[in-house]
Amino acid sequence: MTVKIAPSILSADFACLGEEVRAIDNAGCDYVHIDVMDGHFVPNITIGSDVVKALRPHTKKVFDVHLMIEPAAPYIEAFAKAGSDIITVHAELAHLDRMLQQIRSFGKKAGVALNPATSESCIEYILDKLDMIVVMSVNPGFGGQSFIESQLDKIKRIKKMIENRPIEIEVDGGINEKTAKLCIEAGANVLVAGSAVFKNNNYSDNIHVLR
Ligand code: DX5
Ligand code: ZN
Repeated sequence: MTVKIAPSILSADFACLGEEVRAIDNAGCDYVHIDVMDGHFVPNITIGSDVVKALRPHTKKVFDVHLMIEPAAPYIEAFAKAGSDIITVHAELAHLDRMLQQIRSFGKKAGVALNPATSESCIEYILDKLDMIVVMSVNPGFGGQSFIESQLDKIKRIKKMIENRPIEIEVDGGINEKTAKLCIEAGANVLVAGSAVFKNNNYSDNIHVLR
């Protein structure tokens, strides 16, 4: 199975984001993971849809936009029009089914993220409306946290649950050389990595090591 690497620009230099996105593109990333935080659903504030729009001309790679905002529904259209390719909303929000339909109505791929304490059972009835499931292996809000091992079991359960549906399983948080391997063994095929990619200037080596 081919593993995709999605560097999180949360750990990039915010003073030169365009340049950073071009650098991870050249370094061979698959997706560009964009962490959107509102200071309400998570205790941090980051990027809005105008930043996504400004970054769009810098790369043709897939924009994997992770919305950690509540509510999310009123902002889906803006993120879709800004050039997102995959839009992920959190399972802990109300009206998940409706939000997934909304994302797909803009021709975008729809993802659902599960916080560490959220069971995969809450997505059982919406599997056919999903393109990606994001297993949060840290509590969302910040880069550089340690991987929560209990989530490996959740990845395995999800892998079984999706059967042969074409749904990607992405793991987000605390990914390094060691945890990347465990996630791939458990059934994940997309790995988000913030600090592990941006820790030094060797983005290409850092991406390579995780695959
Ligand atoms: C956490 C974010 C992650 C984070 C990952 O709230 O959703 O995408 O940036 O960062 P690392 O790889 O440093 O754990
Ligand atoms: Zn994320």
